[in-house]
Amino acid sequence: MSHLDHTPSTPGKFKMDKSAYPYHGGRLRWHSSLAKLTFWSFVFIGVIFIFFYRSPSSSSSSSAAATTSSSSSRFHSDPSRRSLRTSSWGGPAWEKKVRTSARIRSRNGFSVLVTGAAGFVGTHVSSALKRRGDGVLGLDNFNDYYDPTLKRARQALLERAGVFIVEGDINDAALLKKLFEVVPFTHVMHLAAQAGVRYAMQNPGSYVHSNIAGFVSLLEVCKEATPQPAIVWASSSSVYGLNTKVPFSEKDRTDQPASLYAATKKAGEEIAHTYNHIYGLSLTGLRFFTVYGPWGRPDMAYFFFTKDILNGKSIPIFEGENHGTVARDFTYIDDIVKGCLGALDTAQKSTGSGGKKKGPAQLRVFNLGNTSPIPVTNLVTILERLLKVKAKRNVMKLPRNGDVQFTHANISLAHRELGYKPTTNLQTGLKKFVRWYLNYYSAAGKKADAR
Ligand SMILES: *[C@@H]1O[C@H](CO)[C@@H](O)[C@H](O)[C@H]1NC(C)=O
Repeated sequence: MSHLDHTPSTPGKFKMDKSAYPYHGGRLRWHSSLAKLTFWSFVFIGVIFIFFYRSPSSSSSSSAAATTSSSSSRFHSDPSRRSLRTSSWGGPAWEKKVRTSARIRSRNGFSVLVTGAAGFVGTHVSSALKRRGDGVLGLDNFNDYYDPTLKRARQALLERAGVFIVEGDINDAALLKKLFEVVPFTHVMHLAAQAGVRYAMQNPGSYVHSNIAGFVSLLEVCKEATPQPAIVWASSSSVYGLNTKVPFSEKDRTDQPASLYAATKKAGEEIAHTYNHIYGLSLTGLRFFTVYGPWGRPDMAYFFFTKDILNGKSIPIFEGENHGTVARDFTYIDDIVKGCLGALDTAQKSTGSGGKKKGPAQLRVFNLGNTSPIPVTNLVTILERLLKVKAKRNVMKLPRNGDVQFTHANISLAHRELGYKPTTNLQTGLKKFVRWYLNYYSAAGKKADAR
């Protein structure tokens, strides 16, 4: 039993020694080894009994209860026990990799911590920053919300570009603190999140864990850091929820989320306001509108439509009330990357230090869309042409469980403040996506080549 190995001073054992004590005093004498054997057998059984009887209360009250899988999160958050971790961070070689990856190679460059670096947007932003000479350190927990092999392939891509991804969770405060000890990050690009609208009904806790608890955990470490970094983070167009006024402008109401995902992103915007207000953190939220492109997320429609069309499977096409059009403001990844870099470049410094606010700091939120909503049926038509396969369309009513019927970004604010100007239309962007898709999955030995 591993319990015993790790907890040498369990209360159970201690009690055994005490209860056994009188028998050593010589009141009872042992004439036969059989009697001794019998006695120690009883003691042994007693120890086991006491151990099991006591263990629930002792493990809940003892800080040394790093024994069960359920205590692993506590284990990870306790820096004093780091040496016992089985996880992969820490040590001189690891620190060297962290430092090297985050080293700035251009004049006036940044050192940026990118959370969710093995994600779709995270990979593209990391490599763009690295290419222009900024120092970049990635952080990702490589969870299995979607196929982790895709995340590993992105990681390999970044590794070749000189970006190291630390494997860990944004909820691991000890890890975050360590990273800020090793590197005085000037910026944090926070893209780690639980995405997806309908998955929130299956796993609501995951949204709270990543998008709320994780964000707060990150902000706590950022506000304590000296210097405090400026933070740019991913909000979502979904915060517009049931808003019907189009195009969506940053000033429009965002208090009617249609999914838990949207609600957690909206909560993030309010949390950002708080940390800006109390601690002087510079915070910029970016409301992404349906980002697509090479290395994209397999849970998104354009991605699994491609897969299903190639496999001859029928694809669900939603329509609104009275056969109303469902449309999205699809935004190509390269345009989003430019918006992210524009946000980092225009972010002012945080004003606090040592966890204290010294003056007002920048607080911003921007739409990053394409200002050109495209009906989902058009998306499918473009894919059919690119894949040279006819789709089996299964038209059905848009379920009322998270998705909204229409998104359309007003991007005039981002244009003015960030110089944001999307240049890729859906036809062009999907062509690049399909080329990547066929190449990636044929290289992976999977059946994806349509010809
Ligand atoms: C877009 O937003 C700006 C404010 O950023 C506003 O002045 C403008 O009227 C909006 N345009 C439309 C068409 O709603």
